[in-house]
Amino acid sequence: MVTRETSPVDTSVLEDGLGDSEDSSDVDEEEELFQPPQTECVASPQYDDEEGYDVTALQPAIRKSGTKVEPSTLRASHVLGKGAFCEVRANLCSKSEHLVAVKRARTDVVANMHALAERDLRIESMMLASLKPHINIVSYIGWGEDAYGFFIVLDLVPETFHARFSKWQAESQRLPNEAVSRRILTKCWPARCFRRRWDALWARRLGAARDLASALAHLHSNSVMFRDLKPSNLGFRGDILILFDFGLAKVFTGDDGAFVPTPETGSARFMAPEVAKGEKYDHSCDIYSFGLMLWQISRLRMPFVDYNEAIHFQTVVQGGARPKLPARWQSDLKYLISISWAEERKRRPTAIRAYDTLVTILESYGAPRSIDSIRSEIKSC
Ligand SMILES: Nc1ncnc2c1ncn2[C@@H]1O[C@H](COP(=O)(O)OP(=O)(O)O)[C@@H](O)[C@H]1O
Ligand SMILES: [Mg+2]
Repeated sequence: MVTRETSPVDTSVLEDGLGDSEDSSDVDEEEELFQPPQTECVASPQYDDEEGYDVTALQPAIRKSGTKVEPSTLRASHVLGKGAFCEVRANLCSKSEHLVAVKRARTDVVANMHALAERDLRIESMMLASLKPHINIVSYIGWGEDAYGFFIVLDLVPETFHARFSKWQAESQRLPNEAVSRRILTKCWPARCFRRRWDALWARRLGAARDLASALAHLHSNSVMFRDLKPSNLGFRGDILILFDFGLAKVFTGDDGAFVPTPETGSARFMAPEVAKGEKYDHSCDIYSFGLMLWQISRLRMPFVDYNEAIHFQTVVQGGARPKLPARWQSDLKYLISISWAEERKRRPTAIRAYDTLVTILESYGAPRSIDSIRSEIKSC
């Protein structure tokens, strides 16, 4: 079976960091207009995969639950980003006169991969169309089909996670080293001033982590596993974090919710060990990835940055290694991260518990408990 992650074009599954291949900054400036497919855009004959998705069966479901968008109402503009198999472009929608994001299968991959990418897109379309809207999940506008194939139309997320992450890093570098200075600078005026700025930066970052927990809580309470949580699937509108890319999302059922997985589901760096090892997994695989994301947001550094795929598998997946938790971090934060990436999936917290913990931590940084309506919305699902 072929999965998105085993594709020959996805040569660096560990490369999801700053300046990685999915970053929009890598996009060729010359390539302004949408090019016709170089490969034949064939309908996949039988892409029933091991998880029982039948593309031919998906099509009517999409037609029922999503809004059809007329291709003539869209005018393609610049590339927003590329994944291993899909390309996302800003398009001007003549009806709303707004820029929207249009996601299609990439045309520069082999025909077989193009067909698989379209299959994932149809799944993504169906998933987004059936999900109740949530402030931290990309809004789905509809789907369409033209000479180049199937596409989905989404709200445009203005800022990538990578761009915001770089801003956080720059902001942190402009301040004195927190670990040293908090101890040295006590009581004096600059200390109070710096403390306010450190706290404000922590609050902004942990606010993003809280948004992520809220998005996951929404998905899990609707029996959806995201399965591909990583920086390149996140963005920002203002200070609100937005989760996108539902190509690998899947509905889970059953008592313990465990599945025999697709072995390479999600990107290696953020992938739960049980998924990487091809063992049974459930929605707690998203919590493992969340734990690593929370560490990255707190540490302002990519986890396992020096590890190649083989070393990662040996030390993290098989050896159980995790990034270090600095002693100076709040104990609640350290505890939340360490249980989120626990080896034993039953020990990991639910997304709603992670959300509650982050709201409490945020209060200690002066953030108000203003978004509790989100929690009640999650609970009512
Ligand atoms: N709604 C959106 N608004 C703005 N940029 C987007 C949007 N969706 C995706 N992107 C950009 O396109 C890239 C690839 O999209 P993604 O949905 O992650 O595709 P893939 O399934 O190939 O990983 C993302 O990393 C991001 O930079
Ligand atoms: Mg992606």
